[in-house]
Amino acid sequence: DDYELGGHTDFMRKEMAEQPEAIARALRGRLDERFATAHLGGLGLDPMALRAVKRVKFLGCGSAYYAGQMGATLVEELARIPADAEPASEFRYRNPVVDPDALYVAVSQSGETLDTLAAVQELRRKGGRVIGAVNVVGSAIARECGSGLFLHAGPEVSVASTKALTNMTVSFAMLALLLGRVRDLSASAGQRIVTGLRALPGHVERVLADDADIARIAKRFAHAEHMFFLGRVRGWPVAREGAQKLKEISYVHAEAYQSAELKHGPLALVDANMPSVVIVPADDLLAKNLATIEQVKARGGPVIAITNAELPSGLADEVIRVPRGEPELDPILLTIPLQLLAYHTASALGRDIDKPRNLAKSVTVE
Ligand code: AGP
Repeated sequence: DDYELGGHTDFMRKEMAEQPEAIARALRGRLDERFATAHLGGLGLDPMALRAVKRVKFLGCGSAYYAGQMGATLVEELARIPADAEPASEFRYRNPVVDPDALYVAVSQSGETLDTLAAVQELRRKGGRVIGAVNVVGSAIARECGSGLFLHAGPEVSVASTKALTNMTVSFAMLALLLGRVRDLSASAGQRIVTGLRALPGHVERVLADDADIARIAKRFAHAEHMFFLGRVRGWPVAREGAQKLKEISYVHAEAYQSAELKHGPLALVDANMPSVVIVPADDLLAKNLATIEQVKARGGPVIAITNAELPSGLADEVIRVPRGEPELDPILLTIPLQLLAYHTASALGRDIDKPRNLAKSVTVE
């Protein structure tokens, strides 16, 4: 074990640290500056088949589902095709209408998650076209799908998924770019995404370097029994993933809400004992997200802002900054500090980080 940990205290820490190289591996040989697109040979879809895709649906469980939600946003933004994500665990039970013109993407680090495998089988039975976004070559889901996007994250041991999740979103950005470039996405917009993707490993490196400050913030709020994670549009799946990670390894109760939903009920819970983590991308919803912070502060709720924007000083109690990249790629970078926040909260509470209670790395039972 010592050897495999390579000097790290646990696998989650090692795997978070490996993210810059994992992203670089996922991008290697797949980005095309000349035509401002991506090459994803494993999909087995030629340009005509790509153009025929009328809808994209991502299916996965837990964090893989949230990564799929980030993927759906990317596909809608870059390719302007309707896209959504659904928990794979529900799919087969609701007798889904399978759309022959849709591209279904089964998302799984392990490739062994039973619920996701069952969704793939249901799709195939009903004539759906399904590809895998899988990290483990030769796994059950990879074999059942036959084609797809290999995630190249390398082995992931910690129950809490970090680098695999990051590589899922990076891969979906490339898929969205490819689907966009056979449609209306301009070469210059495509080039912007290619450049943004290339910058990611360096940007993630900079977020990871903020470790000590994030550890301090985690310690400050580790006593909280409940936390909100708030985001809108691009920030919404980021908030969901942040809440999931915190619950999973620290056992602190966390709930994610779309920021605009706060006023429809959950705002009643906000007080000095209920900190909120607010995701604030530097995009055209910035003013709305600043208003969310004010709304929480006005009820005495402490706020930790995760942002790549310049915030008015003193607005939030704590600010965790990430580098500014291309706005569509913001969810990838904004997720990284939330891994560290969960990690350091769990560590302050003395939890067994790699093996949280009641959980398994891959869920191969119903
Ligand atoms: C992630 O931190 C969780 N352990 C969990 O939600 C996980 O993402 C889910 O069980 C799916 O696993 P998979 O990617 O191996 O299919």
